[in-house]
Amino acid sequence: MNVALAPVLQVENLHAGFGQAGRAQMAIEGVTFQVRKGRVFGLVGESGCGKSTTCRSIIRLFGGSPFVIEQGQILFDGMDLAAMDDRQLTQVRGRKISMIFQDPMTALNPTMRVGDQVGEIVRRNHTGLSSAQVREKVVGLLREVGITSAERRFHAWPHELSGGLRQRVLIAMALSCAPELLIADEPTTALDVTIQAQVLRLLHELRERVGMSVLLVTHDLGVVAQHCDDMAVMYAGKIVESGSVADIFANPRHPYTRALLNALPANVDPHHKLEPIAGEPPAAGHFPAGCRFHPRCKFAIERCHIESPESENVSSAHACACHRKEESLW
Ligand SMILES: Nc1ncnc2c1ncn2[C@@H]1O[C@H](COP(=O)(O)OP(=O)(O)OP(=O)(O)O)[C@@H](O)[C@H]1O
Ligand SMILES: [Mg+2]
Repeated sequence: MNVALAPVLQVENLHAGFGQAGRAQMAIEGVTFQVRKGRVFGLVGESGCGKSTTCRSIIRLFGGSPFVIEQGQILFDGMDLAAMDDRQLTQVRGRKISMIFQDPMTALNPTMRVGDQVGEIVRRNHTGLSSAQVREKVVGLLREVGITSAERRFHAWPHELSGGLRQRVLIAMALSCAPELLIADEPTTALDVTIQAQVLRLLHELRERVGMSVLLVTHDLGVVAQHCDDMAVMYAGKIVESGSVADIFANPRHPYTRALLNALPANVDPHHKLEPIAGEPPAAGHFPAGCRFHPRCKFAIERCHIESPESENVSSAHACACHRKEESLW
């Protein structure tokens, strides 16, 4: 990892969960990572491990669910977002940090033409523009995200657009404030494979062109390999391994990371069967003692049942939370 690049976002020892303060069920515990300026950071892990909770806690968007940050800091632009109230956060949300969600259909208003929806956001971010200027800006944004015939599509209803185009409209909305950080929570899961590739390529290109940083959530390590610079692997509410994509792919130190890599089709010898990870990840509130991965880990030893491993560096920019991280297990 090139440490010369300053972090745009620093999440430090974040403990957060759902419910009332004091009685909340922690969904993420001790989460620490950095997104560097102009870089794409990939957050991966199986369903329910806390990826969305991590993303949403940054701008505290939980659609009304009671949510508490019990401990930790979220440093962005010299501010601690974890210490801000809702009113202060509105200055950051959709202005300096934008988020795009998994499902492009539900995120758009079905009763409003797409150009008007993008226009509404443009108006909010750039006060004092005339209608013609707003329109011009919207068409420019639609073009920027690769929508052809943007003038015509300005008037389209969401249901007239394909999934890929709808996701592009959402990306255009997210970009209208020229965010420093874009959080993309599984932005392509609802799309078919070729459209997925186009949308990811677009995000990649935009970070080069606009210099924005991206926090990209995915359960697909192939996507991480292709589109991310740095990454973290989450399991049961904790980050078990983090570092540059190159380091982790070349030298995974956590058995869970190793298992995820083994399940990647490209890494599998055609004569061998894909090796699924036995068992299921535990839900929040049902985490086992010791290392949370130990019930599914074929390398677990006595210590793993009792003692929770701390995350420690295995090289200057590669950290892992496993008691056996220094051993040659594979
Ligand atoms: N609104 C909520 N209220 C209560 N618990 C929640 C809420 N949202 C998530 N959780 C719980 O928090 C834990 C982490 O869920 P989260 O949605 O962050 O996982 P994820 O890694 O994003 O999974 P997926 O890949 O399925 O999107 C889960 O145990 C989940 O049940
Ligand atoms: Mg999620």
